[in-house]
Amino acid sequence: MPEPATPATPVTFPPAFLWGAATSAYQIEGAVREGGRTPSIWDTFSHTPGKTAGGEHGDIAVDHYHRYRDDVAMMADLGLNAYRFSISWSRVQPTGRGPAVQVGLDFYRRLVDELLDKGIKPAVTLYHWDLPQELEDAGGWPERDTAYRFAEYAQIVGEALGDRVEQWITLNEPWCSAFLGYASGVHAPGRTDPAASLKAAHHLNLAHGLATSALRAAMPARNSVALSLNSSVVRPVSQDPADLAAARKIDDLANGVFHGPILHGAYPESLFAATELITDWSYVEDGDLRAINQPLDALGLNYYTPALVSAADNDLSGPRADGHGSSEFSPWPGADDVAFHQTPGERTEMGWSIDPTGLHELIMRYTREAPGLPLYITENGAAYDDKPDPDGRVHDPERISYLHGHLAAVRRAVSDGADVRGYYLWSLMDNFEWAYGYEKRFGAVYVDYATLARTPKSSALWYGQAARSGTLPPVPEV
Ligand code: FCB
Repeated sequence: MPEPATPATPVTFPPAFLWGAATSAYQIEGAVREGGRTPSIWDTFSHTPGKTAGGEHGDIAVDHYHRYRDDVAMMADLGLNAYRFSISWSRVQPTGRGPAVQVGLDFYRRLVDELLDKGIKPAVTLYHWDLPQELEDAGGWPERDTAYRFAEYAQIVGEALGDRVEQWITLNEPWCSAFLGYASGVHAPGRTDPAASLKAAHHLNLAHGLATSALRAAMPARNSVALSLNSSVVRPVSQDPADLAAARKIDDLANGVFHGPILHGAYPESLFAATELITDWSYVEDGDLRAINQPLDALGLNYYTPALVSAADNDLSGPRADGHGSSEFSPWPGADDVAFHQTPGERTEMGWSIDPTGLHELIMRYTREAPGLPLYITENGAAYDDKPDPDGRVHDPERISYLHGHLAAVRRAVSDGADVRGYYLWSLMDNFEWAYGYEKRFGAVYVDYATLARTPKSSALWYGQAARSGTLPPVPEV
């Protein structure tokens, strides 16, 4: 349920709180053939007919590769003090193995220097879904070697940028890489093989662990290593034991499969049971869990909307949707006995219900799950059908209300004892929203795709004011 729009007392954050925005390489950079970059799985997938809305792709995206200086200046003008972006693996190590390409590393070095110069703290994500195509051709994430390749790449980037970037994130949302990429196939590389998706999940976990060690060896000890999970808040439709069991199963497949080995050094036994007809997990080798279970300095949480589930034979009327795109193949291997339901309340342009209580619940869960580990909200935001007024301004009061509600939930969690150190709005500017192409606008800054001109929406100005003052400004009437 939405937070009250105008709280009685001002919502104020600790002085050191990071007020950031997030992006990812393939969604904004463009310049896909420059500087020796080779195709990633997203280049291939988006150029495959029928895979993205309107056949759209990231060839140009929002041309950030050429406009990064202006984009950084824009962030500084808005008042942001942090920026999370990702490195395109195939820009710095085109074949996914072997020596790095200096031009690629130099681009990121220039970007980081520009940020530091403007007092904006960079947070680097090493992998936001754009595997070099050559590695997919060699088997992709279901192949164990990809984890070793990722560790090598992490070392290269850590050596190149570790002197100036303190905040590191190995993987973004490995759930999406594994299950949207290899089970439902709505994301690159578009495979629909449930057994391969679970194998991919394990190798992503291994990649995270090996990369964490590689980064630590390559960088100054002061740097922080984390990963970003899109941990789901899974709610059962009722307290009926069958619905509770359905929620537990999805919790294992969404959350336990990653935080189990990463935070606790073990997969949940119930996950093995749920997937025993699909895979025998024999690719989990001796020593893997130790390699995966590396101490972390922080945890990144990405949150958009909760999930509502029931046992499949619980005959509820109403639309069924898990919010992860349409495919005849499920992204939930072993969960054919679970049904997903539309969550109540107002929705964004993605059809995702707006529910800040889910963010509070998520933060409190990880406060218990990983005591003492600082948390960052590494993504949160909303898509709306924004359009400029005749005067050229873009008013998006719905997004302001969304941000206010979710930031207030973060603040409430801090009051309840959670150690949340920062918030990165998704996204700095409108961009290529994966299978949805350019249709869904998540930006705080509007991008005119004909001219690529950037115009801060009213939410960007509102958020900038929050960042400068540390207090949430009032929410305008929608
Ligand atoms: C997250 C992704 C990000 C963007 C948002 C809307 O799952 O990490 O790239 O697509 O959703």
